[in-house]
Amino acid sequence: MTTVLETEGLTKAFGRLVAVDDVTVSIDSEDITSIIGPNGAGKTTFYNLLSGQLKPTAGGVRLRPRGGGDLVDVTGDEPYEISRLGLSRAYQINNVFEGLSVLDNVRIARISLQGRTLDLTSRATEDEELTERAWEVIELARLEEVAETECSNLSHGDTRKVEIALALGTDPSVVLLDEPTAGMNASETRKMVDLVQRLNENTDTTFVLTEHDMEVVLGISDRILVLDSGGLIAEGTPAEVMADERVKEAYLGGEEA
Ligand SMILES: Nc1ncnc2c1ncn2[C@@H]1O[C@H](COP(=O)(O)OP(=O)(O)OP(=O)(O)O)[C@@H](O)[C@H]1O
Ligand SMILES: [Mg+2]
Repeated sequence: MTTVLETEGLTKAFGRLVAVDDVTVSIDSEDITSIIGPNGAGKTTFYNLLSGQLKPTAGGVRLRPRGGGDLVDVTGDEPYEISRLGLSRAYQINNVFEGLSVLDNVRIARISLQGRTLDLTSRATEDEELTERAWEVIELARLEEVAETECSNLSHGDTRKVEIALALGTDPSVVLLDEPTAGMNASETRKMVDLVQRLNENTDTTFVLTEHDMEVVLGISDRILVLDSGGLIAEGTPAEVMADERVKEAYLGGEEA
């Protein structure tokens, strides 16, 4: 087992509300890990702590850098530092340049990784390498047929795939996905689940997701972490978590509320 991301006593309070409460977890690079929990459980806040959008009140986060090496303490680091080190977040549409093709978007994601800006004088060989690597990502994401399509003309399902391709374009060690199948029909959902599983297996990138659709969670996850009122109430395989009394209670309680 290789830990790619871990938290220790991670805590975030907003005034008197403890949104993430003393969470200690360790995420294995081989696993697809899902973070679940009722509305308001603290999932988004937990993500924001991992990616640096929020600073923890207490506790810490350690990340394995892209390309391997020892875990690095990233507690309190800025989002761009954490992202450069190897944690990507697949954002909603606002990260995509609508007027550009899928291929150009992936190329730009890689340029920003290299710390360059768009440079008209860049050498042709550099450009060739960039395009080659962008194509690899597009093939991995099965986006070949829409590679030259302007992003504004994509279907919802393909747009979500592009967001993942952009996150992947920077060779991250971890990608955080926020409800990757939200708003998808059954066939798009199935394709998205296949895609994440294939990418987790065939790249050096480890996928972590939050997801409300329990069928997706149970189908895709090697490991599930359950948050409730900010605390980690259960973790384990899908079967272990489903059999957990506290999990049943948290979800039933959520439905009654
Ligand atoms: N910036 C903030 N200031 C104050 N309270 C906040 C802030 N962000 C989140 N909260 C509160 O922290 C708690 C956890 O919220 P969070 O958004 O992390 O939950 P969630 O699990 O992502 O919920 P959902 O499933 O609805 O997306 C909630 O009670 C929320 O109201
Ligand atoms: Mg949320």
